[in-house]
Amino acid sequence: MAEGCRCRIVAGNWKMHGARAALEALAAGLAARSAAQAESTPEVVVFPPFPYLSAVNQALGTGEGGGGIAVQLGAQDVSAHPQGAHTGEVSASMLADCGCSHVLVGHSERRASCGETDELVARKFARAVSGSLTPVLCVGETLSERNAGRTAEVVLRQLGAVLERCGADGFRNAALAYEPVWAIGTGQTATPEQAQEVHAILRAAIARADARIAAGLRILYGGSVKGANAAALFAQPDIDGGLVGGASLDPEDFWRIITA
Ligand code: PGA
Repeated sequence: MAEGCRCRIVAGNWKMHGARAALEALAAGLAARSAAQAESTPEVVVFPPFPYLSAVNQALGTGEGGGGIAVQLGAQDVSAHPQGAHTGEVSASMLADCGCSHVLVGHSERRASCGETDELVARKFARAVSGSLTPVLCVGETLSERNAGRTAEVVLRQLGAVLERCGADGFRNAALAYEPVWAIGTGQTATPEQAQEVHAILRAAIARADARIAAGLRILYGGSVKGANAAALFAQPDIDGGLVGGASLDPEDFWRIITA
């Protein structure tokens, strides 16, 4: 991506949902629609569970050649290690080998239920960068942190750990996702103004290190994005797309978000 150009990106986080046949069908349908889309569209990336990466990659391939957008493939996590005796982990090079171009790093569900610390998330981010994957760094506050007026402090701490390890340069080919924990899977979306405020804080933090990289960085909003609220969110100056969970499993609603 050229610096300064902020093409919108819509990402579908399929989490631990579905099974092979259903996810293949979802991917094939999305690829066919995207290929047939003539007008300019956002970048689209889907993040299936690990075992289905190759199957989904193949299903996405069926939509190629239509002249529209090609749907890209991402993974939901990456090991902080390059290779070796790390049972259950998956390396950046393995993900690339399976066709992934993107990887989620530091999703709040992994921070909360797998004990991922800011430091571990930063190491994973660095591993994705060195493996030529595009990391999508997720940050966001819990409801009690928001109610305590600590939103900016929390997201800047989470971002700061990555900036400290990788510098602003690490964000040259990366994306950020602001996902308030209280909005994920709850149906309670942040208002466009609430989201914009945090997105501007995040962009300003990167800009203090490198203004050009900050200007080109895509910052996605995630947390109960739906067809019905996507356009208002995406109209904000610092919201460059969405990281969509539940609604990305509904082909009609996901398409409404993509074309919002
Ligand atoms: P949601 O999930 O859209 O279902 O709220 C978003 C996410 O967890 O990335």
